[in-house]
Amino acid sequence: MKILVTGGAGFIGSSFVRYVLRTQPDVEIINYDLLTYAGNLRNLEEVASDSRYHFVRGDIADNGSVRAVFEDHRFDAVVNFAAETHVDRSIEDSTPFVRSNIVGTQCLLDNARRFRVSRFVQISTDEVYGSLGPEGAFREDTPIDPSSPYSASKAGADMLVLSYFRTHRFPVVITRCTNNYGPYQFPEKLIPVLIANALSDRSLPIYGDGLNVREWIFADEHSRAVWLALSRGRDGEVYNIGSGQEKTNLEVVRGVLKLLGKPESLITYVKDRPGHDRRYAMDCSKIRREWGWESEVEFSEGLAQTITWYKAHQDWMHEIKDASYLSYYDRMYTNRDDTLSRLHS
Ligand code: NAD
Ligand code: TYD
Repeated sequence: MKILVTGGAGFIGSSFVRYVLRTQPDVEIINYDLLTYAGNLRNLEEVASDSRYHFVRGDIADNGSVRAVFEDHRFDAVVNFAAETHVDRSIEDSTPFVRSNIVGTQCLLDNARRFRVSRFVQISTDEVYGSLGPEGAFREDTPIDPSSPYSASKAGADMLVLSYFRTHRFPVVITRCTNNYGPYQFPEKLIPVLIANALSDRSLPIYGDGLNVREWIFADEHSRAVWLALSRGRDGEVYNIGSGQEKTNLEVVRGVLKLLGKPESLITYVKDRPGHDRRYAMDCSKIRREWGWESEVEFSEGLAQTITWYKAHQDWMHEIKDASYLSYYDRMYTNRDDTLSRLHS
């Protein structure tokens, strides 16, 4: 089986590439990735010499280069991880989000259909459903109601993907997953920001009151579920993926500080994110029923593993810094004059 994986040099895409090559001996993967600030071939060092793995640099929104990849290979399946993924960046400028997440998805759909690919997996997010109150969980039939330009662009892509099923009977599957964490996550998302800052005794920025809730899944578990979607998903269906492990941001930051032996005085409350979704939680009964899905990694265990990885791979982090990739992050979070208060100052 030959699979086109897009965005395979990013955080979750690289986890999926490693997972599939480790567990599926008969699969060949072409990783098509633009290598934006978030893409890093170091994430794939483990598989770089595997003869079943090939890398092609390209933009999913560039129809000419997407078409060329489809002409060069006969793919059985496409798994689309490639996207702009950071909510804060989408608030600052939504342009690349519309281009990569919507136009890019359309370009992949058209080529996959033209070249008669028999499975198209679109990697989506719980954020398309919007925000929850203190009770309840998103189901696959919950109406989409995105808050940020990021989630709106992912919702737009989902609609397009489903329209190709309804209109063309093109065999698509959509997965919508909760917040991921684990090794190789770019240090702009909450958990690696916390680890990176705590390791260098810098303040840990917490938006608003820190009581927003996210459901956290270890990225390798997400990869396992995406493989199930590819191999067992039903055409035209949406599948929620989650771990059932909800945490407030304050619980997460306290967990990180405890594991690193750092003081809670590093926590700094900063101005809230505009349109900040309060709570996400997934009802995963569909994948439990259809695929026997169970999440197996306990948050505290996954967090400990993640921290161990970042401590052992500070060169990975420094390389990103050296390439000035963190300039956005630094601008946002260091020397902020909108710091509201410090806990236990
Ligand atoms: P990431 O930002 O770490 O990586 C994105 C990858 O896509 C990078 O390698 C980047 O170079 C590539 N890319 C971006 N634009 C591209 C383009 N136009 N053409 C080709 N490649 C391009 O993202 P991630 O956190 O690994 O997320 C992967 C997917 O999973 C995304 O679709 C995201 O919406 C979805 N998702 C993420 C989470 C999460 O918690 N991170 C949760 C649910 C769903
Ligand atoms: P993030 O990792 O950006 O994921 P998402 O917004 O897609 O859920 O943020 C997770 C939560 O952490 C979210 O409630 C925003 C909050 N957050 C902070 O409090 N401080 C930070 O520095 C970041 C990046 C996020």
